[in-house]
Amino acid sequence: MPSSLYAGAISGTSVDGLDLALLDVSGAMPRIIDARVETLPPSLAQELRALAAPVDDHLDRVARADAELGECIGRAVREFAGSRAVIAVGSHGQTIRHDPRGRPAYTVQIGDPSRIAEFSGIDTVADFRRRDIAAGGEGAPLVPPFHAALFGVPERRRAVLNIGGIANVTLLGDPALGHEAVTGFDTGPGNALLDAWIREQRGEPFDRGGAWAAGAEAIPELLARLEEDAFLAERPPKSTGKERYNLAFILRHLDGSEPAAGVQATLAEFTAASVAGAVSSWGPATQEVVVCGGGRCNTDLMERLRRRLSPRDVTTTDALGVDGDAVEAAAFAWLAHRFLERLPGNAPAVTGAAGPRVLGALYPAGPV
Ligand SMILES: Nc1ncnc2c1ncn2[C@@H]1O[C@H](COP(=O)(O)OP(=O)(O)O)[C@@H](O)[C@H]1O
Ligand SMILES: [Mg+2]
Repeated sequence: MPSSLYAGAISGTSVDGLDLALLDVSGAMPRIIDARVETLPPSLAQELRALAAPVDDHLDRVARADAELGECIGRAVREFAGSRAVIAVGSHGQTIRHDPRGRPAYTVQIGDPSRIAEFSGIDTVADFRRRDIAAGGEGAPLVPPFHAALFGVPERRRAVLNIGGIANVTLLGDPALGHEAVTGFDTGPGNALLDAWIREQRGEPFDRGGAWAAGAEAIPELLARLEEDAFLAERPPKSTGKERYNLAFILRHLDGSEPAAGVQATLAEFTAASVAGAVSSWGPATQEVVVCGGGRCNTDLMERLRRRLSPRDVTTTDALGVDGDAVEAAAFAWLAHRFLERLPGNAPAVTGAAGPRVLGALYPAGPV
């Protein structure tokens, strides 16, 4: 029987690991049949984090990290696929720059697809964002059509919220209306500010369960200053990145008198407020918010979201039977499938592109 399996790979803005997912596209709805998170070599993770910060960089550093990450993804995919016949791998790579409003607009993902094809032995589809940008779009977010394929239901107005480093929301319309009914955009920070502050203050990669934030009071004046952030009020389509939401962003808003734990609590409240504000402004009819991405494991953040999104239901994709750590990687497996079928991967209503486009480029595994 011919295979119906695609693999997806992404290292998100949090640089917490390489997410892998295996997607079966044979049924009416795509189905995630396996997933794992690989750790990246610590020195590579550190370099990727450094390259994503808007400082002077050197082309040779970028090229080296591109090569190293490509080999790393290729080997991880090979090992993950095992003996399973995988049609293609969709690789997102690591975003180190994203400026969809620049002139010219651009976005840069590294993780050499030639090396992925070479080391995995599997056809590789990569470079998904640039075609959308070429067509005048934001190049992001690309996951909403996949969210619609997985979670669209006719009877409820659902939103899918991915809390990665940056948070993005998909507002699902009636599935009968197809892609046209789907909208989605970045709402602002996800875990990015929480991670940046605890890393700076306590040398920890993230605030486990949000315990640090939960143990302190948010600072109202600081929250008010943060909420003036211009990105929040922007009308979709919109996307953002860690060029904006980083340690410098936090420091800019501080007057130096704030207790560190209080700052963490305020950042958590700001993050929840930015998501809830986006849902009420642009998806007021939303009845249920389904959360995926690492941020759903932050109990404190989830409580703040529930409070601010009430009376809407807030649940996780896991509660619907879908591993919330696998959704993004699976989306890139699905985008590889769309590419090979010569079907559009973007939703113009989401990215603002001039029209539907087939996204990506193919790096064949071997001679044909
Ligand atoms: N148990 C947890 N408690 C709090 N935060 C968590 C937990 N697990 C994961 N996270 C957060 O999720 C982030 C990773 O989320 P992920 O969806 O992989 O983001 P990205 O797509 O940006 O890589 C971590 O950096 C951390 O902030
Ligand atoms: Mg991640």
